[in-house]
Amino acid sequence: MRVGVLFGGQSAEHAVSMMSAYAVMEAMQGSYDIIPIAIDTSGCWMAGASALGLMAAKTGRAPHVSISGASADRPVLAHRRDDEMVPFRPESLTALVDVIIPVLHGPLGEDGTVQGLLELTDLPYVGSGVLGSALGMDKIAMKTMFGAVEIPQVAYQGLMRHHWLRDRAQTLNALEIALSYPMFVKPANLGSSVGISKATNRGALEIAIDAAQQFDRRIIVEQGVNAREFEVGVLGWDDVETSVVGEVTVHGHEFYDYRAKYEDGSTELSIPADIPDVVARQMQELAVKAFHALDCAGLARVDFFWERESQRVLLNEINTLPGFTPYSMYPVLWEATGVSYPELIDRLIHIALERHQQRPSRNRQPLSR
Ligand SMILES: Nc1ncnc2c1ncn2[C@@H]1O[C@H](COP(=O)(O)OP(=O)(O)O)[C@@H](O)[C@H]1O
Ligand SMILES: [Mg+2]
Repeated sequence: MRVGVLFGGQSAEHAVSMMSAYAVMEAMQGSYDIIPIAIDTSGCWMAGASALGLMAAKTGRAPHVSISGASADRPVLAHRRDDEMVPFRPESLTALVDVIIPVLHGPLGEDGTVQGLLELTDLPYVGSGVLGSALGMDKIAMKTMFGAVEIPQVAYQGLMRHHWLRDRAQTLNALEIALSYPMFVKPANLGSSVGISKATNRGALEIAIDAAQQFDRRIIVEQGVNAREFEVGVLGWDDVETSVVGEVTVHGHEFYDYRAKYEDGSTELSIPADIPDVVARQMQELAVKAFHALDCAGLARVDFFWERESQRVLLNEINTLPGFTPYSMYPVLWEATGVSYPELIDRLIHIALERHQQRPSRNRQPLSR
């Protein structure tokens, strides 16, 4: 089977994606025919040797994947190259691979855009479809859906940039009525803590909103909680399994920010988390509920707060394409649950094929299962 591993992308998580994709390709050596496909920061897609070249240039290393003639150094769907527009031809992808693993994080990768393109190509792909990916990327849409199925979460307010720019004082007043300090201000559509700040007073709130609105026209302001942070892996589709629960502890940072996540090693993972069984079970059940509420598929990492004072479990967010290096929380949680890294990849590919078989467009007849 020819497996396209899609990595890079145009989000802030370009380099993180490459680290994950490196590990995925290394683990697949010998079991699959691997076709590396990179998306550079300008959105140009390329396959084969040039994809590995981009990875080597960005991360200093590339897996030893043998490039077959079919995928030798060629653009797949360059939509912009040397200022020349090259039209999208689905057959350039379908001729190359049988299934795609999108190892992409953030906007234009994890948010349903690439998933929509892959739907159009009629190729099976790992992970959630358009709906689950889009809902999982937008923190306001995600929380609206979670609220609809009564998943416990922090109080929050959605805010549009044009409202903010039109009437700052009124917006601040409304936020101070709805929420209390500290508040967390976030662009609705990023990830990796980019553009997020914690505000402990009105002046800081104003600065935080100004910062967030540079990244997105949709902003979310949340009630800050004093809580321990936990993460659960979900694997499956109609029938899903959950991993053991892991705890993330961050040292020397105000919160789990970009540097704590990727740069300075100040993050400690405890797996399984040292919490009562009932609390772990509650997180696992909520993770499954959240996964289905957004119509996710394949994999997701669901992140929780356990509030110190009230002992309430609150769902923070779902990540439909979580970090996937062998040291990332999602694979590590599965390893601790008894699913090895290569087995995890096999299972995800299997789910992708099964899901593709059941695409509505392939079955004009009513589905019978
Ligand atoms: N409402 C909140 N209360 C307390 N801490 C928060 C809150 N929201 C976010 N944080 C802190 O900020 C981190 C990043 O926020 P999160 O919403 O998970 O963004 P991202 O999608 O970038 O991971 C969290 O892991 C947590 O440490
Ligand atoms: Mg997070």
